Order: sequence, then C-alpha cells, then structure tokens
Amino acid sequence: MGLWKRLGGPDLAQVWGSCWILLLLFWRGLACPDSCTCTSTRISCDRTPGIGAFPVLKNLSHAQNITDIYITYQRYFASINEDDVKIYTELRNLTVVDSSLKFVSRQAFLKNLKLTYIDFSRNKLTTLNRKFFRHLSLTHLYIADNPFQCSCDIMWLKLLQEANMFNMEKQNIICINENNKRITLPFMHIPNCVLPKVNVSTREVTILEGNSTTVFCEATGLPDPNVSWDISQVKSNTLIGTVKHAAFLTLKNVTSLDNTKTLVCSADNVVGEDQVIVELNVHFPPNITLIDYPTLDHHWCIPFSVRGNPVPKLQWFYEGSVLSDTDFIWSKIHQSSNNMSEHHGCLQLDSPTHLNNGFYTLQAENEYGKDERTIMAQFMNDPDIGGPITDPGFYDYETTSNDIGGTSTDNSNGVTSTDVSNEGNEDSITVYVVVGIAALVCTGLVIMLVILKFGRHSKFGLKGFVLFHSVPLEG
Ligand SMILES: *[C@@H]1O[C@H](CO)[C@@H](O)[C@H](O)[C@H]1NC(C)=O
Ligand SMILES: *[C@@H]1O[C@H](CO)[C@@H](O)[C@H](O)[C@H]1NC(C)=O
Ligand SMILES: *[C@@H]1O[C@H](CO)[C@@H](O)[C@H](O)[C@H]1NC(C)=O
Ligand SMILES: *[C@@H]1O[C@H](CO)[C@@H](O)[C@H](O)[C@H]1NC(C)=O
Ligand SMILES: *[C@@H]1O[C@H](CO)[C@@H](O)[C@H](O)[C@H]1NC(C)=O
Ligand SMILES: *[C@@H]1O[C@H](CO)[C@@H](O)[C@H](O)[C@H]1NC(C)=O
Ligand SMILES: *[C@@H]1O[C@H](CO)[C@@H](O)[C@H](O)[C@H]1NC(C)=O
Ligand SMILES: *[C@@H]1O[C@H](CO)[C@@H](O)[C@H](O)[C@H]1NC(C)=O
Ligand SMILES: *[C@@H]1O[C@H](CO)[C@@H](O)[C@H](O)[C@H]1NC(C)=O
Repeated sequence: MGLWKRLGGPDLAQVWGSCWILLLLFWRGLACPDSCTCTSTRISCDRTPGIGAFPVLKNLSHAQNITDIYITYQRYFASINEDDVKIYTELRNLTVVDSSLKFVSRQAFLKNLKLTYIDFSRNKLTTLNRKFFRHLSLTHLYIADNPFQCSCDIMWLKLLQEANMFNMEKQNIICINENNKRITLPFMHIPNCVLPKVNVSTREVTILEGNSTTVFCEATGLPDPNVSWDISQVKSNTLIGTVKHAAFLTLKNVTSLDNTKTLVCSADNVVGEDQVIVELNVHFPPNITLIDYPTLDHHWCIPFSVRGNPVPKLQWFYEGSVLSDTDFIWSKIHQSSNNMSEHHGCLQLDSPTHLNNGFYTLQAENEYGKDERTIMAQFMNDPDIGGPITDPGFYDYETTSNDIGGTSTDNSNGVTSTDVSNEGNEDSITVYVVVGIAALVCTGLVIMLVILKFGRHSKFGLKGFVLFHSVPLEG
C-alpha cells in the first residue's frame, strides 16, 4: 500500500479502490461463482480452475429460482455439507459427476423437498448415509462407479437396488471389501446386518375411558435398532420407557377423545426402518351433546348429536311413551364423525300438526350407560288456544261461512238489476245525442235549401234531398 502511495499519490489509490468496488459489485450482481455459468434456473460448473466448495449464490432471491445444479470435472470438489444446499429450496436436479465428491452430510438435503433427481456417478464416495435421502421423494438416484466400502452402512443401497427403486437396477454399483476386492453390490454379504422388524404386544387396544393400559413394542434387527413411539395423535396422559431395542408405552386415564386415534411404533438402524400402527378403541358411555328445537327442511327435524362407543342404541319418547318409527316419524343418523365418535341426526316428522306438539325425549344407551335429553317441540298452535291468524283452520272457517250464505246469491242478483238500469240510462243518453245531432243536421240542411231555393236555380237531385229531409221537419 505504501508503495502505491509513493508512486501515484492519493489519486491512484482512490481510482484503484473504486475499481475494486466496481469489480465486487459486478461479481455480486452476476452472482455466479467462478468456474460456473448461471442462468436464472440453472448453475453449471464445468470449467477450470474449478470449484473447491459447493457453488453459492449470494442473492437469495436468485438462489430460490434455481432448479438445476450441474457439477462436472471438478477435482477439488469433495464435500456437500449440511448448509450448502439449503438455500436452493426449488432444486429438482442435482448432478455431481466425474468429480472428487467424498462426503455428503446426512442433513444436506433437509430443506430440498423438491429434489427428485440425484446423480453422484464417478466420484470418490466410500459410504452414503441412508438418512440423507429418507424424506425425499426421489425418482432417480445414480451412484455407479464410486469406491464404496463394503459395509452395513451401504446395505440400504443393495436393498434399494434389489427392489429396483429410483431406477437403480441397471447401475453397476461396486464396493471394495477388506481384501481390496471389488464386489458388485448384489454379491455383497455383510454379517450382522439385518433390517429392523417391529413387533407390538397388540395392534388394537380396546379400553374403557378412564382406564390405563400399557403397549409393548419390540424390534429385531442388526445393529440393534432404535425404537420409538409416535404419540402425537393422542391426548391421554402417556409414559414411555425404552430398554435397548424395546419400548413400552403406558396410557393413563384414557380419554374418549382418543377413540380411533393411532399410536405408531418405529424402529430404525443403518439398514432401514419398520413401523407398526396400533389403533385405539376407547369405549365410553353415551353423551347426548345436542338436542334442539325443530327446524323445517324438506321434513321437520328435531336435530341431535350423540357421542358414545360402541355406537349407542337410540330410543325416542313422546310425552313419556315410546315413539316407534313410522312412515311419518322416524329417527335417522345423517353423519358420523369418526375422530370425535359423534353421530349427528334428526327425528324426522312428515307434516306434523298441533297434535304432534309436546315433549320429545331422546334416550341413548350402550353397555356402559345411558343418557337422555328432552326438548319441547311446537309445530302448530292449538286452534282452541292459538291466535286466529297463524291457524290455517281460521281460513277454512271463513271459506265455509261464505259458501253457506245462500243470501249472497240474491244480493248479487240485486246488484245485476242495478247494473242493467245503469246500462239503460247510458243507452237513452246515446239516443238523445243522436236525435239532437240529426235535428241539428236537418236544420242546417233546411237553411241551405231555403238559401238555394230563393237565391239560385237548382237541379232535381236537390229536390229529392229536400223530400227526404222534409219528413222530420213536418213531424
Ligand atoms: C437480489 O436480486 C433481486 C432481483 O434481481 C434484487 O431486486 C435484489 O436487490 C437483490 N438482493 C441483493 C441482496 O442483492
Ligand atoms: C424468479 O422467478 C420468478 C418467477 O418465475 C421471476 O418473476 C423472477 O424474475 C425470477 N428472479 C430472478 C432473479 O431470476
Ligand atoms: C434433470 O436432469 C435430467 C438429466 O439431465 C433430465 O433428463 C431431467 O429432465 C431433469 N429434470 C428436471 C426436473 O429438470
Ligand atoms: C411378537 O410379540 C408377541 C408377544 O409380545 C410374541 O408372542 C410373538 O412371538 C412375537 N413375534 C415375533 C415375530 O417376534
Ligand atoms: C377398567 O378398569 C376397571 C377398574 O380398574 C376394571 O374393573 C375394568 O375391567 C376395566 N375395563 C376395561 C375395559 O379395561
Ligand atoms: C381422569 O381424567 C378426568 C378428565 O379427563 C379427570 O376428571 C379425572 O379426575 C381423571 N382421573 C384420574 C384418576 O386421574
Ligand atoms: C439411536 O439412538 C442413539 C441415541 O439417541 C443415536 O446416537 C443413534 O445414532 C441412533 N441410531 C439410529 C440408527 O438412529
Ligand atoms: C357431555 O357433553 C357435554 C357437551 O360436550 C359436556 O359438557 C359434558 O361434560 C359431557 N358429559 C359427560 C358425562 O361426558
Ligand atoms: C375431526 O374431523 C373433521 C373432519 O373430518 C375435522 O374438521 C376436525 O378438525 C376433526 N377434529 C378433531 C378433534 O380431530
């Protein structure tokens, strides 16, 4: 720095500094690592001098558009670490081939849930942990031509290949045994390397609400698998104990909310995992959680909800006496929610009248007890008590009274005669008007005639006219 200052003074130093800043900004803006080329969705690193670590885009919003990373012929590239890939949340394709990849962290792809295609062919991998891919839904996994060590740690690859998962069947995967012999994967045999197998004391727990129970889970497999219970679904109090490759689960004071819920016992080791689902069948006495006033929808419905396991037997009572199903009144469950062991239904009534008003009681019963609730239902008002307007009988009565009155017919006759006389009056007025107009016309004509007769000579046509119109004048 001192040398630069001596040579060019502060000016040169400033220029040099700005150059660096510009260069930095340029690289930042381009955001593509050295030896790589980038498009908006793809990073491709295939050039010299090469990358020594996983390519990282500084700009997060750029990184989140990357779906494809392609790394090839990178002899200094050796590891994919825990945090290297997590910024590429949209990554689908990851290719690292013909490079020096030796290590892949088991946490490397925790955030890359869209990753479906992995190619690690022709690298220096000696092992690969099963956990790195467990949560991924891969379609392709290429790992041929890596110097894997024959060991239990890669037994999972052999099992995947045997099952032809991820298009692995045709790959030439080899491993090197302790005698430095290359062995193709199907011929790899490792002692004490066995997939876990879970065994539980029962697959369905039937228990009375409030009681307690213990379920045992034991797993075989080598190396000794870890055994665990997933109790995320249950609300009851639990106690879990593990001993080596076994685990017990105690449920205390079991709640009815746990009916139909499941418990899962899992076991896993380096080779693989296994799990068994245990279903809960919690018995409990009935509880009518809802009964409500009737509503009209197609039919009348007295809605109710009832919980209970086993499903309670339902019985309705009307004013204290048994109400059996008929074509007009029947009880029906419309919907059952499994997770709550709750059943929703209706007492349906077809065109009920005031005769159906009264107290309706629902009784629900199973082997553990019974519950009952009552509702007062009023479909129509009683005509003896009810107001006249809401009772259709009122309208019936009115109609009848009109029909009965024979006098009304007479009245209407009277009205008709009046109408006729009115019509007569109108006719005579018309007659007067016509006669009046005729008289006016005649008068006019007579005047004209007089004028013509005395003023000028006339022809025969006019005489006839006079003759015709002289009659009313005479009359
Ligand atoms: C990242 O890139 C976007 C779009 O190109 C840009 O708007 C944003 O400022 C950049 N962020 C950083 C930190 O460079
Ligand atoms: C990322 O993708 C979105 C939508 O595909 C696009 O609008 C945006 O410009 C892209 N950002 C970059 C930095 O390429
Ligand atoms: C991933 O890469 C392979 C090979 O390059 C290609 O066939 C495939 O279409 C790519 N898939 C995606 C989702 O980009
Ligand atoms: C599973 O466990 C039950 C009882 O805990 C036992 O009787 C049975 O033999 C076991 N099955 C296996 C395959 O271990
Ligand atoms: C529930 O516990 C009671 C009292 O401990 C017992 O008598 C009953 O048999 C148990 N019922 C069930 C279904 O486990
Ligand atoms: C069981 O749980 C219920 C409520 O969930 C509670 O009222 C009751 O006291 C509990 N019984 C015991 C023995 O803990
Ligand atoms: C089993 O559990 C132990 C302790 O929690 C852990 O160190 C070990 O890695 C686990 N093994 C497997 C295969 O998950
Ligand atoms: C019945 O259900 C109601 C409403 O959900 C609740 O308040 C009540 O405690 C329950 N009764 C019994 C005996 O479980
Ligand atoms: C029960 O299931 C219904 C839908 O089937 C859901 O909406 C509700 O949240 C569930 N309730 C519980 C307690 O799981």
